Amino acid sequence: MSEILNPGLQAKADAVRERLQCALAEYGEVAFANSFGAEDMVLTDIIARHVPGITMFSLDTGRLPEETYKVMQESEERYGIRFEVYYPDATAIENYVREHGINAFYGSVEMRKLCCRIRKVEPLGRALAGRKAWITGLRRAQAVTRTELPFSERDEANGLQKLNPLADWSEAEVWEYIRTLGVPYNELHDRNYPSIGCAPCTRAVARGEDIRAGRWWWENPETKECGLHPGKKAAA
Ligand code: ADX
Ligand code: SF4
Repeated sequence: MSEILNPGLQAKADAVRERLQCALAEYGEVAFANSFGAEDMVLTDIIARHVPGITMFSLDTGRLPEETYKVMQESEERYGIRFEVYYPDATAIENYVREHGINAFYGSVEMRKLCCRIRKVEPLGRALAGRKAWITGLRRAQAVTRTELPFSERDEANGLQKLNPLADWSEAEVWEYIRTLGVPYNELHDRNYPSIGCAPCTRAVARGEDIRAGRWWWENPETKECGLHPGKKAAA
């Protein structure tokens, strides 16, 4: 581990830090939504070391893989911080499971989106209450639904600004940052999981497959958004 980024990547990391610092100066109440995927670990590292005024929160759906909790804990220890964790409404989940079954999300796109709405979208709304801007680890190259992703956009659904400071990063750059600086990461990435969500809705991908092929693998690429990011092309 050299711990020194190559000049090109250092410049991109500096640009991200500046975007975050400007966001904090401009909006004041800024929160980063952290899923502890590879992109989010780059942002965790930059925020914890350089822009600690930004709140970091995570949505625990109740169905996350054990490895995600492990990297959450490792990150808290490494940076000496505590993440804000938000949970779904217990009554809403009880009603969903009683009516439709414990794994009803495999049954139809509607059932899948309803589960995502209860376990992710509603808690996100609570996490964002009172904030002026939120930050994500989205990248343009991740999916057909994300090709036009801007650095900054109005999030009408949640009524605040949404910032995507890694929009122009490649997957290779994300990994070079993590490996060079020894940033903690979800060990599922070493088992062919490029993109990680809830355990029952994420699987490993085969060589050459799309990086999001393992997310809701039984659905078409056009429907594969959970409602957190209902971008222009997504049918969330
Ligand atoms: S998803 O919409 O398909 O689930 P993805 O896993 O690509 O999204 O993550 C994109 C961004 O959404 C992450 O970089 C993060 O900012 C946010 N995000 C996704 N899942 C969570 C979560 N469980 N908690 C907090 N933020 C999340
Ligand atoms: Fe439910 Fe799967 Fe969506 Fe997680 S990813 S909230 S388990 S449908």
